Amino acid sequence: MSWQLNLLRPDLAGFKAYSAAAPDKNAVRLHANEVSWRRDWDHSDVGLNRYPDPMPALLVERLGRLYRVPPESVLPTRGSDDAIDVLVRAFCLAGRDAVAISSPTFGMYQVAARVQGAGVVDVPLVQSPESPFGLDVEGLSEAVSTGADSMPVKLVFVCSPNNPTGNRQATGALDALLERVGSRAIVVVDEAYQEFSGGSGLSRRAADGELLVLRTLSKAYGMAGARVGALVGPPETVALLRALLPPYLLPSPCVEAALRMTTPAALVEARARAADIVARRGSLARALARMPGVLEVYPSEGNFVLVRFGDAEAAVDSCSRAGILVRDFSRQPGLAGCVRITVGSESENERVIAALTEAVHV
Ligand SMILES: Cc1ncc(COP(=O)(O)O)c(C=O)c1O
Repeated sequence: MSWQLNLLRPDLAGFKAYSAAAPDKNAVRLHANEVSWRRDWDHSDVGLNRYPDPMPALLVERLGRLYRVPPESVLPTRGSDDAIDVLVRAFCLAGRDAVAISSPTFGMYQVAARVQGAGVVDVPLVQSPESPFGLDVEGLSEAVSTGADSMPVKLVFVCSPNNPTGNRQATGALDALLERVGSRAIVVVDEAYQEFSGGSGLSRRAADGELLVLRTLSKAYGMAGARVGALVGPPETVALLRALLPPYLLPSPCVEAALRMTTPAALVEARARAADIVARRGSLARALARMPGVLEVYPSEGNFVLVRFGDAEAAVDSCSRAGILVRDFSRQPGLAGCVRITVGSESENERVIAALTEAVHV
């Protein structure tokens, strides 16, 4: 048994999942209270009148191949958000357990914890040799020892590359964190932006049970609307978390879209597109760095850049007047003056540069 299951909510021991209807498409299906007709506009493969396959084997196999782990180590989820949510529900008892985060970071870790009634201990990112937003390994390890208001920390969320700062955490820091935390809490590394980074990813180590990894088709594979992600971990943890999720997890059109997206040819295309985004990220960052109102453009390994402006409000307003949405982080601790800009198409990037140039000159 994986050591991770020792951290499970004790009230979930022996939990039995809902028994879903068998997905056999060829049998006469009179076991799931579906209807037998489909609409003439329903061009889906299996038919929207049918419940989806509770565990679409081909998709799991494809995701396993994509992340270079065995299929038993992959749990498909409704985006990484769903994985974050089920992790907190599985490991944190309301009012008793906590998660650790390192701000500034992706907001859903905190949201999922609050919804579950779990505590949150924030150990902010610190200046490290690699980045102004490095992990405070010592602080996180201490947080795991002391807990949040005496609530033990069960999960340590690490976002790498981090949203919104863009940096990837150094392997040395992650190794040190894993060693320091040991089996007291599970380190969950969110690699939503891994495909845009130079790093190799941690999926294999997750499958071996050292940690858990979150991946998604929303970013580099351009499927944010389909809501397909994956949690990678040891098979026992994957099986347990699957049992806690709804039986018919992924809508069949989303599974069908994900299957189209994960053919070898589609993956080659997606990798080329991700490489284009990385190239445009460089051009955008250089153009921004040349602008007079820009104080800093942080190095990014995601599909966005974090920019510190002298006057963030003017920058955001000017984008807004030009019909461009960017994300203002300037009121978040440690991010004064900062705005996150997603790398767009070439013409979108030209438009944002033009709008920001305007802001500097008004
Ligand atoms: C770091 C990080 N993790 C997860 C997500 C959510 O991804 P998904 O669309 O797979 O739920 C995001 C979305 O912005 C993100 O920035």
